[in-house]
Amino acid sequence: MISVAKFTVISEASPMTKTIPALTLLSMFIPGVSSAAVSFEKEILPVIEAKCMECHKAPYEKDGKTVKPKAGLRLDAAWAILVGSEDGAVLVAGKSGESPIYERVTLPPDDQDFMPPKDKAEPLTTAEVDLLKRWIDEGASFGGWQGNLTGKPADLSNSGTKVPVSKLQEVYKRLGEGLSMPEEKSWESVTASGGRVARLAETSPLLSVDFRLAAEPATDEQILAAKPIAASIAHLDLSRSAATDAALALVEESPRLVRLDLSSTSVGDAGIARLAGLKELRYLNLHDTQVTDAGLQSLKGLSSLEAVYLWQSKVTESGVKALQKALPEAKINFK
Ligand code: HEC
Repeated sequence: MISVAKFTVISEASPMTKTIPALTLLSMFIPGVSSAAVSFEKEILPVIEAKCMECHKAPYEKDGKTVKPKAGLRLDAAWAILVGSEDGAVLVAGKSGESPIYERVTLPPDDQDFMPPKDKAEPLTTAEVDLLKRWIDEGASFGGWQGNLTGKPADLSNSGTKVPVSKLQEVYKRLGEGLSMPEEKSWESVTASGGRVARLAETSPLLSVDFRLAAEPATDEQILAAKPIAASIAHLDLSRSAATDAALALVEESPRLVRLDLSSTSVGDAGIARLAGLKELRYLNLHDTQVTDAGLQSLKGLSSLEAVYLWQSKVTESGVKALQKALPEAKINFK
């Protein structure tokens, strides 16, 4: 619930005292300012249905295959939106600025994380973005809307307040144990080098480090500025940077790395050899790199790997097959 300041208005015609919420008063004078709280079902849901749902709904069958929601995120039910994605919560009631569901639609449209993905659906209009922001900041109430109850875990209370911890969230929790909370001061050198550092969650000591937004492609030297915080890094994005194999000296000191994106860099086999100790690595993007079959040898012991992207690298079909044999559970994307 939001609390709204009340004004007391005394009308001359009837000496009755009425209390009118400040926003109602405001809306009498400023067109476009509405006093009513945003209705999820009437105002937000139609936008999600038109622009997000296609990729973020309950699993369904298509051409004999099960199509799962992207990033494990369903937006077709209140409980599912509260549960979030495989990476954790996407909505922080009252805080649009900390809600990935809002952040993703307000990124620069060229950003690879922008939602909906470029050319897949119409981006949100300014008015829709504003509504979403208001809805979240007002407390993100779903009103009476529940959505699709299929797949809702039995241990989830009806109010949706008891959110189950996903497997990945448990991993992050375990990795954070015993690690002290890094202070923002400790990553000033990274920010100065063009890197963007963020905590994975408000209370997590784990960090995500991203060099994609540097004004010029980040060099090895700039990337290695992250060494002082290496132990806390769980996500590292060096895609489209000027990283060479030397930059991967950083990950040798990052045993908590879960996601690593090296796509569109000149990283090759010598760099990949430096990943051999990353026992927690689950996502590895080597799209458009110089990695060959020889480099894949270094990945065979990384039993946590769940997804490897090798499209437009120098590997061959037989190299991919051998890797798939060593990592039967991993999804290897080659073509
Ligand atoms: C054409 C398919 C598609 C559409 C449409 C789409 N998404 Fe996504 N979404 C994805 C994919 C693929 C990912 C995972 C890759 C990534 O993290 O960027 C994703 C990831 C996300 C994530 C991050 C989940 C996490 O924590 O990793 C959020 C939040 C999200 N989408 C919200 C939205 C919203 C809101 C809309 C509508 C405005 C939308 N998506 C429309 C495909 C889609």
